[in-house]
Amino acid sequence: MNKIKTSTKFVCAECGAISPGWMGRCPNCGKFNTIIEEIDTPTTQTATTKATRNPPVRLSDVSHEKLTRINSGIPELDGVLGGGIVPSSLVLIGGDPGIGKSTIMTQVACSLSQKYKVLYASAEESCAQVKMRCSRLAVNADDLMLMNETELDSIIEEAKNYDFLIVDSIQAVYLEEMNSSAGSVGQVKECASKLMRFAKSNKTTVFIVGHVTKEGAIAGPKVLEHIMDTVLYFEGQPQDNYKLLRAVKNRFGSAQEVGVFEMRENGVFGVKDYNGIFTSEERGAEAGSLVTPSLSGNRCMPVEIQTLLSKTVFGMPRRMPLGIDYNRANLLLAILEKRAYMPFYSLDVYVTAMGGIKITEPAADLAIALALASSFRNVPIEGNVCAFGEIGLTGEIRGVTQAEKRVAESVKLGFKKFFVPAQNMKSLEKLKSKADIIPVKHIYQAIKLLFGENKNPEYA
Ligand SMILES: Nc1ncnc2c1ncn2[C@@H]1O[C@H](COP(=O)(O)OP(=O)(O)O)[C@@H](O)[C@H]1O
Ligand SMILES: [Mg+2]
Repeated sequence: MNKIKTSTKFVCAECGAISPGWMGRCPNCGKFNTIIEEIDTPTTQTATTKATRNPPVRLSDVSHEKLTRINSGIPELDGVLGGGIVPSSLVLIGGDPGIGKSTIMTQVACSLSQKYKVLYASAEESCAQVKMRCSRLAVNADDLMLMNETELDSIIEEAKNYDFLIVDSIQAVYLEEMNSSAGSVGQVKECASKLMRFAKSNKTTVFIVGHVTKEGAIAGPKVLEHIMDTVLYFEGQPQDNYKLLRAVKNRFGSAQEVGVFEMRENGVFGVKDYNGIFTSEERGAEAGSLVTPSLSGNRCMPVEIQTLLSKTVFGMPRRMPLGIDYNRANLLLAILEKRAYMPFYSLDVYVTAMGGIKITEPAADLAIALALASSFRNVPIEGNVCAFGEIGLTGEIRGVTQAEKRVAESVKLGFKKFFVPAQNMKSLEKLKSKADIIPVKHIYQAIKLLFGENKNPEYA
């Protein structure tokens, strides 16, 4: 008898790295408790079929169709995708359970089904459940085809005649030829590769829903990122009404796009007016807050930075930045101490970006530093003031990209006074009539302009 030999391997559910044995911490990604034992499927058994050989071709002979994009029915989503859905691409929508992935995909599927053939393969919920959701969302779902199936080959077989396929979720589907369980790293990877080959060969656009997991019992969407054309993540706290849809990878557009969505009883809706989402009404009343015009892809959003200082009670002072990189915050504190004579060593420092947004660009440095300085001096900064600029280790303010756009968009939202890098002044000349634009070269210069000379006896 030809007995199939099975062995096991140890895989990280977070990053997919294989290790020789069980370990408490993945040596590749550094996450704890993510390594799990999986059945190793012999290579002859995997779904990988021998690829047909493609001979090389001259680049000038390659014909390419013009990239036509399809509207998803949700303009905010189209924006995050880089201007619409690219036909026969593979898109992953990841996020925590319950954040609204199935909701947004149902809305998109219904909208697309008005013009195209759409198959919604629901591996998690029954057709009745999906129907219930559709009636709650008040969408026209008459032509949407539903399939309640977990076996991927049957889904693919059925999807051959469709323009769009939605797989909800990748952790719930499995391939019969692999003997590991649904949701394991091997299954999830192999299912995604199979869907990729299907999308390209059958010219079907495939959306994959993936849960972000914390325990590591099922594989997270991170292990799939390299296979996908586009990866979008839904972010936000469960209690917040606003969710952010962020592109982390996009072969057909910018990977810095962010869309803001509002969760309502009847679905998720794109938010067009960002005013008041990442800023508070009462800003300017208390010391320690300042707004920065933050760029995400093509959008400019005013984001309020709030800071709080309190006396350290014992030992090590706390440093707690939320929505801002920990090391960046520490770097700015060191610069303020050394170049603007503000000692923080006996103070706990809290810094947050409002509304749960993450700020990654160094252009926010100046606003963070000035907000900290405002806290330190206990002098509030007026609510209609904005600041942007990168700060170097010597305290100099460096120019940033798209300064003109930042100022122009913020002026529209009612901001009047701007602290900007002197290097950017050239491009801002024509906006001088609309706002009070103050060029600064050094962090201490900006602090002096706002709060006056340093009176700290320690540095006198
Ligand atoms: N009848 C309802 N009324 C209002 N909200 C609901 C209703 N049913 C579900 N929701 C909410 O919709 C949100 C999104 O759910 P869903 O799209 O299924 O999430 P996911 O697919 O990301 O796990 C959930 O937070 C849930 O609480
Ligand atoms: Mg769901």
